[in-house]
Amino acid sequence: MEEPHMLKGLGYGLCLVVAVLWVSACAQPRPKKPDVEYVPTPQHVVAEMLRLLAVKPTDVVYDLGCGDGRVVITAAKRYNARGVGIDIDPKRIQESRANARKAGVVNRVKFRQQDLFETDIREASVVALYLLPELNRKLRPKLLSDLRPGTRVASHDFDMGDWHPDRVIYVPGSAYEHTVYYWVIPANVDGAWEVRVPASTGERRYLLRLQQQYQEVRGTVNAAGEAMLIRNATLTGDHLRFTVTTGIQGEEVQMSFDGRVSGEAMRGSVEVQGGAMAGRYAWTSQRQAASSRDAPQR
Ligand SMILES: C[S@@+](CC[C@H](N)C(=O)[O-])C[C@H]1O[C@@H](n2cnc3c(N)ncnc32)[C@H](O)[C@@H]1O
Repeated sequence: MEEPHMLKGLGYGLCLVVAVLWVSACAQPRPKKPDVEYVPTPQHVVAEMLRLLAVKPTDVVYDLGCGDGRVVITAAKRYNARGVGIDIDPKRIQESRANARKAGVVNRVKFRQQDLFETDIREASVVALYLLPELNRKLRPKLLSDLRPGTRVASHDFDMGDWHPDRVIYVPGSAYEHTVYYWVIPANVDGAWEVRVPASTGERRYLLRLQQQYQEVRGTVNAAGEAMLIRNATLTGDHLRFTVTTGIQGEEVQMSFDGRVSGEAMRGSVEVQGGAMAGRYAWTSQRQAASSRDAPQR
């Protein structure tokens, strides 16, 4: 009478163990598949990309989807930069580490097996990409929010949609002509700013209103009730330049502003040509309000 009961108990126990194993196997996160297949950038295109990015020894070069590690290894070898390669595929990470050993740059480069959309990229001063157009567009908000103004980004063959590149180069190849797109991460300048110019004839105050789409900036300067459009505005990283032309008592006065943005403040110099204020002055500015739009596109 006892034996069949024991066997039944053993059977239940076994079922329980199998069920627990099955549930825990299902609970393991499945390794995510690469969003794009591995295709290496030809070595001579890597060289042109790094030249366009003007890599220097103080740079930290990230390659998001690093493949065999060639971009960061070349940056370390040729420019003595530090490099971090991110790839989701463990095989690529092993290959990259082996290549770094062969190249003698293990002390300058690191490789992390991670999803590029989730990795921390804040320390990068240079970012290299060879992904796909839709992946570039998906990555764009992360690049713009996590990277410091002035960080340089280059993408082999694929652009960033309506974020126009600052430069484009073409590199001949054996199969086709390669395109390399280049951007500089712009500072956030969107909104209304009070500009103070302490001229010898007394401090002048202007209201500067800027609208920004990525590195493209438009706006007006209000002085004594008159709104003048700014012209020739350029924003390269944290470096903002623009010109305002006005007529004071029939005389044309041109003011060329050149400044740096740091969070909610700007400062720089302004060259005034024509009028009683002609000369060069320092200027400072404080942001009064962000743009009425929810989030500036930068
Ligand atoms: C076209 S290859 C470029 C390799 C290298 N950057 C180069 O230019 O030679 C793209 C690489 O991205 C990796 N990859 C794809 N999806 C990824 C993801 N979500 N996170 C990290 N790496 C990814 C692939 O494994 C592949 O090695």
